[in-house]
Amino acid sequence: MKILDLFLLGLVIILSRVAQIHGNTFLINCGSHINSDADGRKWVGDEASSDNFTLNSPGIVASAAPVNGEAVFGSLYRSARIFNTASHYNFSVLSGNYCIRLHFYPFEFAAYNANESAFDVMANELKLVSKFNVSKEISRKSLSSNSVITSIVKEYFLSVNLNELRIEFIPISGSFAFVNALEVIQAPDNFFNETINKVASNGLKIPLSLTDRGIETMYRLNVGGPGVKSNEDQDLWRPWDSDERFMFSVNAATTIYNSSNVSYISSNDSSIAPIMVYETARIMSNNEVVEKRFNVSWKFPVDPNFDYLVRLHFCELRYDQPNQRIFKIYINNKTAAENYDVFVRAGGMNKAYHDDYVDAVSQQIDSLWLQLGPDSLTSASGTDALLNGLEIFKLSRNGNLAYISERINTGDGKISAKKPNSKTISEAVGLGVAFIITVTVVSFLSCHCIRGKRAATVKESPPGWHPLFLHETMASTSDARASKSPLINTGTTAILRIGRMFTLAEIRAATRNFDDSLVMGTGGFGKVYKGEIDEGNLVAIKRAHPLSGQGLKEFETEIEMLSKLRHRHLVSLIGYCDEQREMILVYEFMANGTLRSHLYGSGFPTLTWKQRLDACIGAARGLHYLHTGADRGIIHRDVKTTNILLDENFVAKMSDFGLSRAGPALDHTHVSTAVKGSFGYLDPEYFRRQQLTQKSDVYSFGVVLFEVICARPVINPSLPKDQINLAEWALRWQRQRSIEAVIDPQLEGDYSMESLKKFGEIAEKCLADEGKNRPTMGEVLWHLEYVLQLHEAYKQKADSELFRSSEFGFTDLSFSLPYMREREEEVSSKPS
Ligand SMILES: *[C@@H]1O[C@H](CO)[C@@H](O)[C@H](O)[C@H]1NC(C)=O
Ligand SMILES: *[C@@H]1O[C@H](CO)[C@@H](O)[C@H](O)[C@H]1NC(C)=O
Repeated sequence: MKILDLFLLGLVIILSRVAQIHGNTFLINCGSHINSDADGRKWVGDEASSDNFTLNSPGIVASAAPVNGEAVFGSLYRSARIFNTASHYNFSVLSGNYCIRLHFYPFEFAAYNANESAFDVMANELKLVSKFNVSKEISRKSLSSNSVITSIVKEYFLSVNLNELRIEFIPISGSFAFVNALEVIQAPDNFFNETINKVASNGLKIPLSLTDRGIETMYRLNVGGPGVKSNEDQDLWRPWDSDERFMFSVNAATTIYNSSNVSYISSNDSSIAPIMVYETARIMSNNEVVEKRFNVSWKFPVDPNFDYLVRLHFCELRYDQPNQRIFKIYINNKTAAENYDVFVRAGGMNKAYHDDYVDAVSQQIDSLWLQLGPDSLTSASGTDALLNGLEIFKLSRNGNLAYISERINTGDGKISAKKPNSKTISEAVGLGVAFIITVTVVSFLSCHCIRGKRAATVKESPPGWHPLFLHETMASTSDARASKSPLINTGTTAILRIGRMFTLAEIRAATRNFDDSLVMGTGGFGKVYKGEIDEGNLVAIKRAHPLSGQGLKEFETEIEMLSKLRHRHLVSLIGYCDEQREMILVYEFMANGTLRSHLYGSGFPTLTWKQRLDACIGAARGLHYLHTGADRGIIHRDVKTTNILLDENFVAKMSDFGLSRAGPALDHTHVSTAVKGSFGYLDPEYFRRQQLTQKSDVYSFGVVLFEVICARPVINPSLPKDQINLAEWALRWQRQRSIEAVIDPQLEGDYSMESLKKFGEIAEKCLADEGKNRPTMGEVLWHLEYVLQLHEAYKQKADSELFRSSEFGFTDLSFSLPYMREREEEVSSKPS
């Protein structure tokens, strides 16, 4: 029976794959004689050339170490073809438009290190890349994004007229060329219109023909939704990324979702974008903003001195009549369209619609802005904006799409000609420049790099880890310490505290070769060790489990977040080690461990009420900074007592930024991660409306506050049903104004009723059902400080009472205890 099943399964697979390999589609696994499966498609080894496809020179076949099994393209990236001289693949195709994808995955094979390759690629007469170097490409593009990626997929569109497509690899002299995989897929003739709206031209259209101009895809985004994998887009196998990381202010927009009844206006449109892209959108945030007078903005690093085609995908998901949402579209701060009503243009609700605009980006500019905002011509009532999807394509100039970047795209709209390398950075440090230099490990996330591929390539040591750039950060108390830190290594490998690159040998020495007795904690990513570096400096060393893909994602986020953020109440990153495919982070050591361990369950001495208040205030400060201090508010997403750490002086710091960011509302992987990581702390509204905001952190923080009062786990399944969930249980007591009934007995006699009452009220407000009724972290912080004052006044009073009862006590009494004194007078006057 099993065999029959397998047989049937095999048959189905074969049939479906044969169906895909039809006509003018070529999927080539380079440097291989075997056919492989990847991304749900069948790829042909390039040694088996056929009538339709030939390779003019054998080059060198390179094989690489296996890539993580989860990798979508992992099986393709185990081999590459290397060329020492100009060589080409020839494809016999029908005339028409084609989409070409080139896959590059850095590897080392014999004397060939992909990082040292440099070559041009031509597709017929069109130059695709020049002096291409995969590592440079990764690090250059890394600047604009926020996770480590390990491969580059470049996508182009061009027209083929003479039934032949030649893809030629031309090494720069002394170097070599390589490629891991090739895709040649016929694209529909109507994929690009013959004329395109020109930005700021009063409706002028300019002609566009793929015969004259080739196109490179720069970004392809599913706005307001999760990434769409290439195998979910079976027309052209395009990956769609989520857009959030490109938003200028995430809070300016909210996401909406509607999965029913969305359809194409005409069946000809079906290959323009998958329906999924139209089912999610961003609209303007409308929280308490009656008159919306702001723009929703996205910013994209691009190559200077090219024309860009911006394709906007729209679908009105909410309104079933016109004039409900009318807006203006700006590209590069110029008006692209006015009076834009998607309902009117698409001819109804739930209709997939797109519009293209072209604009030139000049020599000195390296970013492209897209903004949607209110149209001044319309009344405030119809003022809102909507966007469902977005693609940015680069148009060739004089047969050239290649951009050679010796310069660093700083992403701030200007080009920095200075290439930051460790030398200049050490110099900067040496000069005592008042900059904070942070390492930002980020990644290139254009359309080429879908989530699947990223997750996929995790096992390889990421070549994109370049501790490179200058970055001003907000001043904070830890900055001053940073500049004096003994951990600054002025050698060439390290930059500043945050950027120190440790060798694996150093890490092994620090942890006695990862001695299990030094393990302080374990998580999904791997283990945390207590370590010692530089003779006596204690650090916490987090070592990612090599096989944990999820861990990697969080690991990347953590580096990205921590390299941007510095604050007394956020745990600082000291450095990292990425030798031999290790992913190790080194943090400041937090001597007193987690807040939770000082509340219950560990046998540690419990904290006094004042220490608990201080810890809550510290954590609230850290969160308040996260929410407001960074250029776009950051959501921690995993606020809980095990992520609040205490240093040797019991100063609380927020840690674990692995889940941080304003995640896409519908990103299921992230939702489920959050559920796993913080069950019991999770904002119910986040589930209900699938909208993640800072108020979700406020909710979790409210649970922390109750946990601090009650000193019990947030979920305790061994309790009676109505007590299992701390948030529900404590909230019931709080609503009856009797939270003292469930207070940690260890606090007995240490707190004032007044401060406890106030504290309970704050926790209650944080747990408000709707985010909009919860306070901000700033307000929470303010109230907690007030609670501390109440408590200190009480303590002072209590101490004074003690003082009074001692023989020296009388002098201060009138000052600190007027009330008592009056009572006393009353009492003492009575007998007379
Ligand atoms: C929106 O962006 C455009 C183009 O950058 C700018 O001219 C306009 O003033 C902005 N509108 C608002 C309300 O900020
Ligand atoms: C466009 O506007 C944004 C802010 O709205 C600004 O930061 C950017 O520098 C402007 N770009 C250009 C090219 O003027």
